[in-house]
Amino acid sequence: MFNVGVFTEVLNLPRPHMALILLWFGVLLRCTTLVHSLGTSCTAPLTSGTAAISEPYWLESITHQGTAAYNSDPSTYVVFRNVKDFGAVGDGVTDDTAAINSAISSGDRCGLGTCNSTTTAPALVFFPTGTYLISTPLDLYYYTQLIGDAKNPPTLLASASFAGMAVIDADIYIPGESSIRASGAEWYAPTNNFFRSVRNFVIDLTQIPATTAGTGIHWQVSQSTSLMNIVFEMSSASDTAHQGIWMENGSGGFMGDMVFNGGKYGIWGGNQQFTVRNVSFNSVETAVYGLWNWGYTFQTVTITDCQVGFDLATGGLTEDTQTVGAEAIIDAVVINTPIFVRTSEASTSLAGSIVINNVKLNNVPIAVGVLDGPTVLEGSTGSLTIDSWGQGNVYSGTNTAGTFTQGTIASATKPSSLLDSTGRIVGRMHPQYADYAVSQFVSVKSNGAKGDGSTDDTAALQAIFNEVHAFSSPANGRKLMEIQFSGCAIIFFDAGTYVVTSTLEIPAGTQMVGEAWSVIAGKGSAFENQASPQVVVRVGAEGSSGIMEISDIIFTTVGPTPGAIVVEWNVAEPSSTSAGAGMWDSHIRLGGAAGTNLETAQCPSSGSGGTTNCFAAFLGLHLTAKSTAYLEGTWVWLADHDIDGDGFSQLTLYSGRGILSESAGPVWLIGAGETNHTLSGAQNHYLGLFQTETPYYQPSPAAPTPFTSDSTYNDPITFESGFAWAVNIIDSSDIIFFGAGLYSFYSAYVQTCLETMSCQPQLVNVDSQSFVTIYSLSTVGATSQLSVGNTGIINESANVDGYQSTVTVWSSS
Ligand SMILES: *[C@@H]1O[C@H](CO)[C@@H](O)[C@H](O)[C@H]1NC(C)=O
Ligand SMILES: *[C@@H]1O[C@H](CO)[C@@H](O)[C@H](O)[C@H]1NC(C)=O
Ligand SMILES: *[C@@H]1O[C@H](CO)[C@@H](O)[C@H](O)[C@H]1NC(C)=O
Repeated sequence: MFNVGVFTEVLNLPRPHMALILLWFGVLLRCTTLVHSLGTSCTAPLTSGTAAISEPYWLESITHQGTAAYNSDPSTYVVFRNVKDFGAVGDGVTDDTAAINSAISSGDRCGLGTCNSTTTAPALVFFPTGTYLISTPLDLYYYTQLIGDAKNPPTLLASASFAGMAVIDADIYIPGESSIRASGAEWYAPTNNFFRSVRNFVIDLTQIPATTAGTGIHWQVSQSTSLMNIVFEMSSASDTAHQGIWMENGSGGFMGDMVFNGGKYGIWGGNQQFTVRNVSFNSVETAVYGLWNWGYTFQTVTITDCQVGFDLATGGLTEDTQTVGAEAIIDAVVINTPIFVRTSEASTSLAGSIVINNVKLNNVPIAVGVLDGPTVLEGSTGSLTIDSWGQGNVYSGTNTAGTFTQGTIASATKPSSLLDSTGRIVGRMHPQYADYAVSQFVSVKSNGAKGDGSTDDTAALQAIFNEVHAFSSPANGRKLMEIQFSGCAIIFFDAGTYVVTSTLEIPAGTQMVGEAWSVIAGKGSAFENQASPQVVVRVGAEGSSGIMEISDIIFTTVGPTPGAIVVEWNVAEPSSTSAGAGMWDSHIRLGGAAGTNLETAQCPSSGSGGTTNCFAAFLGLHLTAKSTAYLEGTWVWLADHDIDGDGFSQLTLYSGRGILSESAGPVWLIGAGETNHTLSGAQNHYLGLFQTETPYYQPSPAAPTPFTSDSTYNDPITFESGFAWAVNIIDSSDIIFFGAGLYSFYSAYVQTCLETMSCQPQLVNVDSQSFVTIYSLSTVGATSQLSVGNTGIINESANVDGYQSTVTVWSSS
């Protein structure tokens, strides 16, 4: 319960606040019902944990009562699994492979190539600190988080005789099958391989003979996936064949906060699009090998004592010959490495767009070079900073002609609010509360919420938020003091689906964490009126400021919900912080999952479900004017297919808007994606890499049908030929895209338009008064890649550099 500190604070208040005291007493009384008593006062921010050194990581010892609400047997299906409960020893000697694989696969899980995908069998597999000897791959079933003790990350030690693709395998090739998915040769389709996360490990390959291509992680994944806080230990022998991450394709994704020591390759990767943040490579032969992509963004990279930083296969100008389409690198430090970037072919026309921004070289003689060819950009044996350099087609303003450039390109002015103290774009790792004691967490299930996918949990959840944050009680209709306040308790959303039937108010000062993606679902009449949309989850009262940390949560609806604004984000970070208000590994998922009532049975692609029953949302995520937001790995997805059921049948679902930002910033969208994005009156945004896809059914019905354009939400007035804009920017300034992948793959579910890359006429619209810089813009299927004031400026056909077309940079002026 709350201690005397609260009373002291109350009594210190000036007289006019007496009314509040009564409220607080009410709160105090209810507080005593919290099962986990709070050993700390709620009067001041608690920025650190109280766990004793010897105490295990809170996630290990918290009561495990998470459930999978829509599993066929929620009473017996177990979400949380501790590998030691399955017989893993962790002594570095015993082979723990079978025990860990049993922890992952037990229960009726989705894998083996007999199940494409599911949301009904999630698992969080926990590894206490220790050294686990691994002899064959750990098979990462669908919808699994592998989480090591964040205080003392466990080591996965590959045995000397390790056999198989990688220590952790996220998409398993089926032995004996020679081709891929179409003939069933892998467990999962690489572009639908969602919901996986691996955190807090040391993966040690050094026992494997150096000349064997031992691999840490086979990561052939799509959106809503992450790798985080992982150290790869590999052989430093001159003939080393070890590799950290091996990724041949997929449609990701985010990874970050990783260190690669030794090895032939740190990241060997091909994927449609990917975002990598905060990675360090030490004595790796080739830090990053780029096999193929449509666009990659690397943010904050440190390369020390390597041979080559980025080695890129380039030159392929068609789908069949695809190589690296676009590589964008921001904020790198490269030390004692002969070559920073190397392409496989000399680029005299477009073949491998490169953007380098704020890169500091120290003893790197070649900044950009060609394999067995000329140096394109000299480095230095001393130190050198590259402010903004590019290779590819450069455009500006309304000039329809691009210029092939290998040299200095536009350097966007970066507002200081987006930067850290060293001048780099801010990055902040997913909070894991490693130092916090389990007594500092409050479980929602222990305090009255059911999370069973049917009970209305609105009141139970609201009471918990209000009690933990006694200073802010918008449920009472009062706008109380805006106090920067956090740390009284971290709210633990035990795995489950929590149905809310009216707006859930999350007060500024909240830290909350889910378990294997806990779900908050808006349902019912409150969210059914398109003419009067209502917020499902309001993050911070309007005008509030304070810490906000949300991780491992999914926000969704149970349809039809034409009037649901799924998340309204109002909170602003405390002025003393950067990225103090954010979400990590948290998503807005609309339809396509069990329990949503927006599935194959209701809304097949034939359209036979009609429109009335197939509204998923009015608006996915609204960043309001005074908010700030750090969103890492956030995927706002209007489902194009059903994850449950057969896992590939397409759906026709409707959401009026994806993300609307009116924020004055700072806003960081790091590794984020969605369907259609509007920036209106926005300022100080960094987005990289940003991905969108146009709904496959358009133009039937023609956008905005079945919604109507609503000026309150800054909807576009014009929808060219009935297709949504991927990005529409109105009256905004200091907007920096560092990598974008914007795709239009269909016209009314037919793909013949891809033969001429003309599925929709226009894709990105910027009005003439906005100040925007877009680096590394890769698009597919649009006649015009970028428009100013609704008029197409850049022809996609002029920038073909693979399956996609890439503009290396466009700046509004
Ligand atoms: C993924 O990569 C594998 C191995 O190179 C290849 O056989 C397969 O065709 C690729 N699949 C897709 C969907 O690109
Ligand atoms: C970068 O990654 C390292 C290694 O995981 C981590 O210690 C550090 O806190 C990260 N930095 C940021 C800014 O997240
Ligand atoms: C998985 O998807 C493939 C198409 O990609 C389909 O042929 C197969 O039937 C699906 N498997 C199951 C078990 O539904």
